[in-house]
Amino acid sequence: MAKRLEGKIAVIIGAGQTPGETIGNGRAMSVLFAREGAKVMLVDRSFEAAEETRAQIEKEGGEAVSFKADATHIEDCEKVVEKCMALFGRMDVFVYNIGTGDASNSLGMPPKRWDTVFDINLKGLYYMYRFVIPVMKEQGGGALINTSSIAAISSTPMLAYRASKAGMNALTQSVAVNYARHGIRANAIMPGLMNTPMAIDGISKATGVDKNELIKQREGRVPLKGGMGSAWDVAYAALFLASDEAKFISGVLLPVDGAQSARVG
Ligand SMILES: NC(=O)c1ccc[n+]([C@@H]2O[C@H](COP(=O)([O-])OP(=O)(O)OC[C@H]3O[C@@H](n4cnc5c(N)ncnc54)[C@H](O)[C@@H]3O)[C@@H](O)[C@H]2O)c1
Repeated sequence: MAKRLEGKIAVIIGAGQTPGETIGNGRAMSVLFAREGAKVMLVDRSFEAAEETRAQIEKEGGEAVSFKADATHIEDCEKVVEKCMALFGRMDVFVYNIGTGDASNSLGMPPKRWDTVFDINLKGLYYMYRFVIPVMKEQGGGALINTSSIAAISSTPMLAYRASKAGMNALTQSVAVNYARHGIRANAIMPGLMNTPMAIDGISKATGVDKNELIKQREGRVPLKGGMGSAWDVAYAALFLASDEAKFISGVLLPVDGAQSARVG
């Protein structure tokens, strides 16, 4: 049976991960895409983190290259696309996975931090699209996937995080409509409470809440039996959206959240 991404070139921004015990969304997507036959360009501002992902892919017999770039720098974004074209001559799938939160949870957060949240979560995406979309237009199509969050549609106290992810959702849908005639599909995944290093190790470190206690609290907030999801749940959703199985799906904001965002009251 053919692999689901056989012959495709995929670029993943944020393909490394925050150190921790579990696997992160970007790494899980990268590994899964390679298992399904894609050649994956692993982009991360931490070259070491991208290289760890590459090692995992190559151990399984997959193909990947690492590339160091910071998506908040427009020159780096241009270089990502130039490198991909030089290596592979095309780009079928582009995933913007990076994101950062505002742990201070209030308007009192330092304005610099607000800017950082927006730079990483939204401006970098705009920068990348300036170079990615012309390539996809020229080749007659492509699949764009963004890692958003159900925070975008919830009443989270993380004000900058929510606003930036809501902006990402809006940009996803605008691009889906405005470039549809060029065969470009754009979709976003909205993960809910996931057991990833960024969420568990990151939030535990930022808030001082014990890791096991944090896991227990988060498990209890997910309606679906089994508690939190894992990065593999996000990766399988991304795999579907990246594949030709989703060729008529564009402009979708897909929750991967165990029914959390469907619960009202
Ligand atoms: N884990 C959750 O519970 C959860 C829930 C909802 C949404 N999300 C979203 O998932 C995404 C992150 O998932 P992950 O598990 O892969 O995170 P992660 O933090 O483990 O990995 C992200 C990678 O991105 C890299 N990175 C950060 N800023 C960068 C930049 N400016 N340029 C290039 N690389 C950069 C980091 O070095 C890291 O290797 C984010 O968009 C986040 O908002 C996560």
